[in-house]
Amino acid sequence: MSADPRSDKAVTTWSASSAPANASTALSRNVYGPAPVDTHADKFQLDIVRLFRMVMKHRLIIGGIVCACLVIGIIATLTATPLYMSDVTIETSSDTVNVMSDKSLDAQQPTNDQAEIATYVELISSRSLAERVVDDLKLADDPSFVAPVNRSLVARAKALIFGSPAEQPRSLESRKKTAIATVIRNTSAKVVKLSRLLTITYSDSDPRRAQRIADALASGFIKANLDRRFDATTYARLFLEDQLQQVKLKLEDSERKVVAYADREKLVTLDDQKTILSQKLADLNTALGKASVDRANAEQLWLQVKDVKDYSDIPNTSSGSQAPSIIDQLRASRSQLVADYESKQLTFKPGFPVMVALKARIDDTDQQIAEEVDKIKNTIRSTYELAVQREQALASDLDATRAELIDTRNRSVEYTMLQREADTNRTLYDGLLQRYKEISVIGGSSANGLSIVDTASLPGSPYSPRFALNLMLALIAGIGLGLGAALGMEYFDNTIKTPDQMEALLGIPVLGVIPMLPADQSVQSVLADPHSALSEAYRSARTALQFSTDRGVPRNFVVTSARPSEGKTTTVMTLARMFGQIGVKILVIDADLRNPSLHKVAGIENSFGLSNYLSGGAEPEAIIRESGVENVSLMTSGPIPPNPAELLSSPKMLTLLTEFRDTFDLIIVDSAPVMGLADALLLSSVADGTLIVCSAGDTPVETVKAATKRLAMTNSQMLGGILTKFNAQKAGYGYAYYGYDYYGYGKDNLPSLPAA
Ligand SMILES: Nc1ncnc2c1ncn2[C@@H]1O[C@H](COP(=O)(O)OP(=O)(O)OP(=O)(O)O)[C@@H](O)[C@H]1O
Ligand SMILES: [Mg+2]
Repeated sequence: MSADPRSDKAVTTWSASSAPANASTALSRNVYGPAPVDTHADKFQLDIVRLFRMVMKHRLIIGGIVCACLVIGIIATLTATPLYMSDVTIETSSDTVNVMSDKSLDAQQPTNDQAEIATYVELISSRSLAERVVDDLKLADDPSFVAPVNRSLVARAKALIFGSPAEQPRSLESRKKTAIATVIRNTSAKVVKLSRLLTITYSDSDPRRAQRIADALASGFIKANLDRRFDATTYARLFLEDQLQQVKLKLEDSERKVVAYADREKLVTLDDQKTILSQKLADLNTALGKASVDRANAEQLWLQVKDVKDYSDIPNTSSGSQAPSIIDQLRASRSQLVADYESKQLTFKPGFPVMVALKARIDDTDQQIAEEVDKIKNTIRSTYELAVQREQALASDLDATRAELIDTRNRSVEYTMLQREADTNRTLYDGLLQRYKEISVIGGSSANGLSIVDTASLPGSPYSPRFALNLMLALIAGIGLGLGAALGMEYFDNTIKTPDQMEALLGIPVLGVIPMLPADQSVQSVLADPHSALSEAYRSARTALQFSTDRGVPRNFVVTSARPSEGKTTTVMTLARMFGQIGVKILVIDADLRNPSLHKVAGIENSFGLSNYLSGGAEPEAIIRESGVENVSLMTSGPIPPNPAELLSSPKMLTLLTEFRDTFDLIIVDSAPVMGLADALLLSSVADGTLIVCSAGDTPVETVKAATKRLAMTNSQMLGGILTKFNAQKAGYGYAYYGYDYYGYGKDNLPSLPAA
């Protein structure tokens, strides 16, 4: 007997047998290391397969919810009042009569602006329009409108049986309020895409009323639009009237000022006056120039003759056409007299009377000439003086005219200012007046760009409730709710349900998946059939066990589970039977000293057994019994001791396993569950291997995890797990999981050779 029985060679002969395909899963785990531990997020990651499995698993609940929703949908449809819909189409045209040329007037802007149409849509649902319609159609006085009767099939049937309930009298105001709210609620408007068409829809339980209200909504809307426009122009008109009044006063005042100024300044026509004065100034300028020349000539002549004594120096020309003849005559007669005197001087002496007479005549002629010269000089001087006077007069006249012109110009500046102010006021007044006239015309115009294209028609059939649609919606809602419920249940169900989960969450290979038996079948009876799914599953588990370690099946191993009743004893017994069938000598020990059941399964009494040996009262060989199954011997628990953990912790347990190592090829130990008890851990610590059994959809993940963790601390080799009571359909796998349906493969062909 070696010190460490676990170091002994395992049963290598079994590992030589061929491995069925089902064992590959378990093997691959060992070869490629532990399976990755699933995270919470991964757990609920929805792929199609998972979803399908989930749906299959919860198909009853989903089906139930869908049915419930359909029933609710049908009831809701039957109890709903049928509603009729009537609609009117309005064109929001831009073809308004262009009364005004002024494009700035908002009222004449085209109405195809999307914002404006959107505004129309909102206005249709306005309270004022609803009020207008209620007033127009006197809806507040219509009892069936204010207190609608439920016209559903169910309600009609009820009314037929029990009669209609009596109505409470209500005030007009309250009825009107209800009517308005009803109209608003049942009215809808929408824009026909990419057009200027508006559709007003009204729904009502009475088809005729739906039609009437739809029409009233359309005409009321158009009228309300006109009224609003009229109100807007009225405001503008009042404003303009006020403005006109003010501007008019200003204009009158400025015009009065212009007239008063003209009067005061004696300005008849300022422009004429300025022209006259300018002309006069020009003429005076010319005249003054001429006068200056004349004066210069006269002055020159005067300066020439002023100091002349001798008549010969007197110029001829200046005396004019009359004077020269006299001077010339006098000069001629004097020349004659002088010639006569000189001729006679030769004959007569100067004192001679003839000579004296001649001399006197010559003197007289000189005297006459001198007088004549003086006359001429005087004429020239007076001409000069006259020229000077004229020049001076013209100069002063010119100055006066110039001053007058400047003065006139100065005055005209102020006059122009006053005139301009008056002109500005007039323009303002004219503009306002024009605008006022335009607005008055618009206010009176009935063209507002809205016209009815289609009036409301009488609806033939109700649009609501729609049976098919409601049913469809109920179906969709049912599926949604069902899936939601299934998801929720899946989320809150934290039990191990599938072998995949078991491998992923516990990190151990699953060596077998044992199907759940129907309630009416017992394990024993099903196992009697070697081709039953249960037998095949355990056979498959046996094979997987042979490959659970690189040395084949350990010489002994403990079968345990996290919680009670997971199928330990069933697994122990069935595996023993399976190993026995292939010629392996087996000893099954019931080490569950708290709730032993091996004897029950084997159908033998339990008056002595393991507890007797452990407590020191019996030899091991004496307590081994035949099971009736080929190659399988049994050691039942014996009487239940008060201190199972103490007994199991004694070295006798290890001794027992070691002792029978040579007698039996394999010892399988049935144990108590792990959680809350030390038994399984004690047994595991002395055995070569441990097999954990987990009941599908029953044990919470955390419990199995904790149990596995505790078992891992014992240093015994974790061979793997067996998922028992697996319901493929419940887990959503259908029949085609883990060769579940293949267990029946070849079932109909009876074997011609005896079983191994
Ligand atoms: N695959 C199966 N399908 C249906 N029922 C099963 C299956 N395996 C075992 N059972 C039943 O489950 C019950 C518990 O089984 P079993 O006694 O093997 O579990 P256990 O873990 O040994 O329980 P305990 O902790 O009490 O010892 C039994 O009634 C058994 O018939
Ligand atoms: Mg048991």
